[in-house]
Amino acid sequence: MVVVPDRNDGGTMAQDPNAHESLPTEEELGRAGLELTIDGRVAHLTISRPERRNAMTGRTWTTMARIGSALPEEVRVVVLSGKGDIFSAGIDLNMFTPEGVDGERSIVAGLADGSADEEDLDSYIAELQAGFTWLRRPDLVTVAAVRGHAIGAGFQLALSCDLRVLADDAKFCMKEPALGLVPDLTGTKPLVDIVGVHRATEICLTARRVEAEEARELGLATLVVPSDELDGAVSDAVTALLELDPGAATATKALLQAAPGNSLEEQAAAERRAQIGRLTVLAQSTAGRS
Ligand code: CAA
Repeated sequence: MVVVPDRNDGGTMAQDPNAHESLPTEEELGRAGLELTIDGRVAHLTISRPERRNAMTGRTWTTMARIGSALPEEVRVVVLSGKGDIFSAGIDLNMFTPEGVDGERSIVAGLADGSADEEDLDSYIAELQAGFTWLRRPDLVTVAAVRGHAIGAGFQLALSCDLRVLADDAKFCMKEPALGLVPDLTGTKPLVDIVGVHRATEICLTARRVEAEEARELGLATLVVPSDELDGAVSDAVTALLELDPGAATATKALLQAAPGNSLEEQAAAERRAQIGRLTVLAQSTAGRS
């Protein structure tokens, strides 16, 4: 069931010609504060630094990006959760100290001592954002299972997923503006897409908590369940998602993702193209059976 290799020269990905790189080893996952299990078509990715309330570092996100590009091709659903009773306390605040987190680059040190310029920081933040953007891939369906706090980068991570299943004790908070920063881990677009620019502004500029029930009313939660039913609800959602033909699911997600940026005519044309692709597959499989 668990396919995470012990060393970089082994494991599933070494044999997968479509893989861009190898999955992180257990040791690398541990240093990134992550746990990963892959069971056939489902990957479970857990933020696992309970002693820091699952605060995440740059390494967490660069490792997540690597996981995204190295997942076995058969994986269709990725479930993201936090270890214990919290999803994530967001970025490890030590990333903003000159010392940074042990063995990792401080986000501010380079700017303070002049060893990094804006371009350098731009590329670094882009690397971190890659840890979030792969969760939008149309060939995957991503599910955030949220218990307790999802703060800052934790909220943005949940927003990067297609579905957010919340325990009734879940709470979102976009804390960045209260720290003198902006949310920069790709969360602003889905937040505005879901709640609209006015509500998004209010949520960000007050940095207030959005509790589970309100999250459901705003469309930020796909489903809210009692805490002890979260695992079961996520498992039911995964089972339902796996029922679909992968090609149809991928084409539909791609179509829906394109909709907000398209005019009605453009979207209608995109629907036709996608449907012709699906009909061609259906026709070929029918011909193959006769
Ligand atoms: N970074 C580093 N350490 C953290 C942390 C974080 N984000 N959140 C919690 N911890 C540490 C605490 O320092 C504490 O460490 P010690 O045991 O050594 O004292 C330990 O985790 C337990 O924390 P608490 O005692 O505070 O736990 P709690 O259950 O009472 O509260 C919490 C939990 C509400 C999440 C609270 O810890 C908290 O508010 N944390 C900070 C949240 C935050 O501001 N995150 C950054 C948001 S901004 C962002 O993510 C993105 C960005 O800027 C770009």
